[in-house]
Amino acid sequence: MNFPIEAHVNVRAIASSLIREVANAGLGKRDVLPFWFGEPDEVTPQFIRDAATEALDRGETFYTHNYGLPALREALASYVSRLHHAVSADEILVTSSGMSALMLASQALVGRGDRVVAVTPLWPNITSAPRLMGAEIVRVALELRAAADGNPQWSLDLDRLLAALTPATRALYLNAPNNPTGWMIDAAGQQAVLEHCRRHGIWIVADDAYERLYYPETADRQGSLVCAPSFLDLAERDERVLATNTFSKSWLMTGWRLGWLVAPRLLVPEIAKLIEFNTSSAPAFVQYAGLEAVRHGEPVIAHTLARFRRARDFLIGRLRAINGVQAASPPGAMYAFFRIEGMADSLAFCKRMVVEAGLGLAPGAAFGPEGEGFVRWCFAADEQRLADGIERLRHGLRILRGTD
Ligand SMILES: Cc1ncc(COP(=O)(O)O)c(C=O)c1O
Repeated sequence: MNFPIEAHVNVRAIASSLIREVANAGLGKRDVLPFWFGEPDEVTPQFIRDAATEALDRGETFYTHNYGLPALREALASYVSRLHHAVSADEILVTSSGMSALMLASQALVGRGDRVVAVTPLWPNITSAPRLMGAEIVRVALELRAAADGNPQWSLDLDRLLAALTPATRALYLNAPNNPTGWMIDAAGQQAVLEHCRRHGIWIVADDAYERLYYPETADRQGSLVCAPSFLDLAERDERVLATNTFSKSWLMTGWRLGWLVAPRLLVPEIAKLIEFNTSSAPAFVQYAGLEAVRHGEPVIAHTLARFRRARDFLIGRLRAINGVQAASPPGAMYAFFRIEGMADSLAFCKRMVVEAGLGLAPGAAFGPEGEGFVRWCFAADEQRLADGIERLRHGLRILRGTD
């Protein structure tokens, strides 16, 4: 009777969060400016909160259908159809967060030994989901190159990605705009990837969490809503494309845990079975809040987009003015992911920044080995706070370089 007490090997293989490790290093320290987590800094708008409390007052406290409230699925179908190609409610499932949508996609599509390709560096949860199911992850790294204007820019070598997508590949996981780099795949790249995956029967799991946090220099689609290109623009109905999304970022709803996915119709009842075993459904009153957000939330997105664009430009400008910092201006999402010359251990660096400068950043290594040498800064914050953070970074760098 001396059996080891241990979780399944797939669980043990997952590392705990390096961002948390940095945050823990700052525990007990009161004056820390935290930019480490990926979270908008504003509270959920009042009209969305009101919808939840009204739903509770009406007694919306019961299970809903595994698929989600019919009204919410309809509203999401018309929202997605406004942004991308036409989808119907029977292609939509409501999930208890974007993370849950990613986990459900992995449970539905991958199993032990399956080859899964991911474009990296990447928010680690995206690859952890298929790894928990036993998949082998093949990473294709973005590169930081000098753009025509001399500034660095993240880019993907498309040929390398296509070469990694062998016929034996089960799925491609692609997040664009990407967390942490903000990198965006262009429509031509998407078309090439889609055609290649079609030819070989490879699933595309597209994480569109930041599609509305997109800052094109010129609005690509005149008069329409700002939205990053998605595989949902190009894919045909019922092909091997599964898109996951979340209410967290667009409508400032991180703590509500609400998301959705768009899937081929034959897959929808299969994933609904999995929802039964995970959460059974998202909470009813949370779904009513989501309904209000989808129906009336465009001004929230417009406000957030304008704010974050200003914050991005401010932060990137300030970072580039620091000696030895290389920062690309991200076309989407809400992070600066920048290199600091001479910094080889991002975890140790971020811990020291918390302790010695009161600055909370996420270590690049948290996003995979390709992220080493970089740090991530979430710029969803007021300018004054960002300016204070920059002062702390300058101070911290002086201490580390011994010039203080
Ligand atoms: C790329 C990406 N996808 C999905 C999510 C999931 O968001 P949530 O689980 O809050 O819906 C996040 C959250 O940070 C993210 O960065």
